[in-house]
Amino acid sequence: MEHKGLLQSDELYKYILETNVYPHEPEPLKEIRALTCSHRLFFMGTSPDAGQMIEMLLKLTGAKKTLEIGVYTGYSLLLTALAIPEDGKIVAIDVNREFYEIGKPVIKKAQVEHKINFIESEAIVALDKLLEDPNNKGSFDYVFVDADKINYLNYHEKVMELVKVNGIVVYDNTLWYGSVVKSKDLVPETLKEGRISVLKFNKSLANDSRVKLSMVPLGDGLTICRRVR
Ligand SMILES: C[S@@+](CC[C@H](N)C(=O)[O-])C[C@H]1O[C@@H](n2cnc3c(N)ncnc32)[C@H](O)[C@@H]1O
Repeated sequence: MEHKGLLQSDELYKYILETNVYPHEPEPLKEIRALTCSHRLFFMGTSPDAGQMIEMLLKLTGAKKTLEIGVYTGYSLLLTALAIPEDGKIVAIDVNREFYEIGKPVIKKAQVEHKINFIESEAIVALDKLLEDPNNKGSFDYVFVDADKINYLNYHEKVMELVKVNGIVVYDNTLWYGSVVKSKDLVPETLKEGRISVLKFNKSLANDSRVKLSMVPLGDGLTICRRVR
């Protein structure tokens, strides 16, 4: 059990995981979580309770054409691949293919690899390439953004062109370990730069009339956006 401290009770978090999350977590996701927990950057993986909510969103919206920015070992990628239909597609972007290779055997075994187009690239470059194809504009049903926070505002502008009206965009880490409400002197050095970016991003999103929002305190904070125009 690893939790990022937004819910201020380990017992309550354990209760949620044990009663609701783990009993329903598909076996391949458990496998990828087990593979990831010994990795030096294990804390980057999407938390399973947040994953469960994302799966709900994917199923409710019937998302088929999807995009993920920030794959790491593939927990959120695999959960998306398992949730979308057999002919669904995921464009998955990460600057580091080695991380993706860690989870790939599990993705293969789960027989969903054919849904995934993995692109090893800086996200901005890959998003610009996607935008060169007019068929991609306004075509994605669902986008998950979980990479470098410093670029969230840049990603948002490009993602707004790619997602369809009524499509869903989920941004991870929008409460940044709770640091968004801490005085900057009390924030550890390692979180300072991210905190400034996340604060700017959250403010800008709240004033963006192209989206309706819901900020959910799961994992490290998720902001769910629905493009309305
Ligand atoms: C928090 S992890 C993603 C976790 C993943 N969604 C999961 O469920 O395990 C962030 C990922 O973003 C990637 N990343 C960081 N900066 C990037 C950039 N500029 N362009 C593309 N990927 C980037 C990192 O390599 C890392 O794998």
